[in-house]
Amino acid sequence: MSNCIVEVQNLRKDFNGTSIFRGVNFRIMPRETVSICGNSGSGKTTLVNVLSLLEPPTQGNIFWQNENVTNANSGKISQLRPKIFGYIFQQCNLIPELNVLENLLFPTRIISIIKKSDIEFAKKLLGQVNLCGIEQRNVSTLSGGERQRVAAVRAMINHPKIIIADEPTGNLDVKSADATMDMIMNLCDAHGSSLLLITHNQRFAERMQTSYVLGNASLKKLSDHL
Ligand SMILES: Nc1ncnc2c1ncn2[C@@H]1O[C@H](COP(=O)(O)OP(=O)(O)OP(=O)(O)O)[C@@H](O)[C@H]1O
Ligand SMILES: [Mg+2]
Repeated sequence: MSNCIVEVQNLRKDFNGTSIFRGVNFRIMPRETVSICGNSGSGKTTLVNVLSLLEPPTQGNIFWQNENVTNANSGKISQLRPKIFGYIFQQCNLIPELNVLENLLFPTRIISIIKKSDIEFAKKLLGQVNLCGIEQRNVSTLSGGERQRVAAVRAMINHPKIIIADEPTGNLDVKSADATMDMIMNLCDAHGSSLLLITHNQRFAERMQTSYVLGNASLKKLSDHL
């Protein structure tokens, strides 16, 4: 019995009768780093949404920690998802009305009551990305790079098994993008999380242990694609 964090089998997603992808098989192991590249519109975000059941698949099976969750009820999925997945988006998606600490603890509030240890953990994570002492700052006063670091910390807050980062550096200059990428990889390493990186950046993709390309509605290992 393997101990995959996520596995998809024969996955297919159609929109309006057209397949975005089909026959997709892959798995992500504990601590594994994986990239998916592909042209804009090739279906990368859709694949991430389907494997985390934010969208239903048209066909196929999805396993989270070896449990087939394809047809699990929505209550169970919404309890399970934040414990398995942490998300980092290109746009950060921080809540502008809330300060840094409130943003960080938002995903925890969804699944439980905030404990003192959660606040301590949030502060410890901020220290790990060199943002000590900014807990009370309004997120709208932060730079783009600082926001992306806060977003990365927020993704870690529930001790997820895997971080899904969908173009996390797309809005940053080269130097900030490199620093953000290092920070995400270091955080995943320090906390033992796997990483699924969606990126257009070949250099970042090659830093992952396993690289895939999504194109022509199918997912292939980069090594088979070349
Ligand atoms: N809810 C939806 N209804 C209909 N079509 C959709 C829906 N969501 C996405 N699509 C279409 O599916 C295709 C794949 O979109 P997706 O956002 O997954 O691409 P992507 O590879 O993430 O692109 P990018 O690199 O630009 O982020 C696009 O043609 C898009 O228009
Ligand atoms: Mg996308």
